[in-house]
Amino acid sequence: MDIFEKFRNRGPLGQYMEYGHGYFMFPKLEGEIGNRMKFRGEEMLVWSLNNYIGLANHPEVREADARGAREYGLAAPMGARIMSGHTDMHEQLEKELAAFVKRDAAYLLNFGYQGMFSIIQSVCGRNDVIVYDSEAHACIVDGAQLHFGKRFVYPHNDINSCAKQLERATRIVSETGGGILVITEGVYGMSGDLGKLKEIVALKKDYDFRLLIDDAHGFGTMGPTGAGTDEHFHVQKGVDIYFATFAKAMAGIGAFVAGDEYVIKFLQYNMRSQIFAKSLPMPIVLGSLKRLELLRDRPELRNNLWKIVGQLQGGLKEAGFNLGNTNSCVTPVFLQGGPEEATCIIKDLRDNYKIFCSMVTYPVVPKGVIMLRLIPTAVHTVEDVEYTINAFRDIARRLQKNEYSKTKFPKLD
Ligand SMILES: Cc1ncc(COP(=O)(O)O)c(C=O)c1O
Repeated sequence: MDIFEKFRNRGPLGQYMEYGHGYFMFPKLEGEIGNRMKFRGEEMLVWSLNNYIGLANHPEVREADARGAREYGLAAPMGARIMSGHTDMHEQLEKELAAFVKRDAAYLLNFGYQGMFSIIQSVCGRNDVIVYDSEAHACIVDGAQLHFGKRFVYPHNDINSCAKQLERATRIVSETGGGILVITEGVYGMSGDLGKLKEIVALKKDYDFRLLIDDAHGFGTMGPTGAGTDEHFHVQKGVDIYFATFAKAMAGIGAFVAGDEYVIKFLQYNMRSQIFAKSLPMPIVLGSLKRLELLRDRPELRNNLWKIVGQLQGGLKEAGFNLGNTNSCVTPVFLQGGPEEATCIIKDLRDNYKIFCSMVTYPVVPKGVIMLRLIPTAVHTVEDVEYTINAFRDIARRLQKNEYSKTKFPKLD
């Protein structure tokens, strides 16, 4: 068979390519990043960007990015860190990141996704066992799939099942002579609920394992200083490896991993995603230093974020919406309906209310459930919140009156 034969049916999302490309999939949001951007030439109130504390378009960030590009260009430094791409600025950023998340050391990663699976690959050998949450991000799932040894999944946030899997893992490593790595997220980015870090750390009393957390959505948003979900739960000491991306609150690109000095030293010399890839360019590093400075030293940005989160989540709940178990800024709104109704709702929101948010349907959520996902940020306003809650009231009413098609996707122009 021709290996390309399967391309003809295009996969679960690709099958809708002709219909939804440019509207539902690959939509183009244009203009400066903020609460208002253009979609198909029309200004939208945007609730789908992880620009949590509003750094994307902060004038000091824009200036730092421009200065980095002006002074160094995107080429510098050339080569991988270990070969020729190492600089004082990379080290400075790592020092500041480590201090911020209260770890001995940190190491920069070019991307969160690749970085995570490379961490897993470096930490785990074939005799080791990985135990991870069923709703873990693709980077964790894919990293675990690359693992040659055993891996066990526990149902999302089910600590009893996690303990059972640790029991199984313990039996295996007692024979192989390996160790156990547990992986969870700090904030689950789809549903907004928090990983049960306290309970998982408490399991260390009964089981011998190390804990790695992916805090993509918690870094910069959670905890008294914004240092993350483990700071929020006061369990920083129990989290052995802390990982976060710059793609969310930092509104940049890149990622980092932090932990004890000997752990980070090992990763520096063994992570294939960094050894065999070019170092982060200088403008990204200088821009990240500025972003970290603002994230750390301007708590008012985080306070603004949480003010908007409180108003949005409080208002939606008061209006009777089901927000699931979110305990973070991520604001899912659960409705009942199928994918056809979901697409009608999104079209109604975009065309008639000029509200742009993301939708999630089966198989990410159970059949018959629609999840509209809102990401509040520090640059949203009270008026944005009130307008959106009223619009959601309207769409919920329409959904209840069966005004959205249950059988047909809406026509797109
Ligand atoms: C939980 C989580 N982990 C990892 C990543 C990947 O990070 P990056 O975009 O830096 O590759 C994301 C998405 O960006 C994420 O949501």
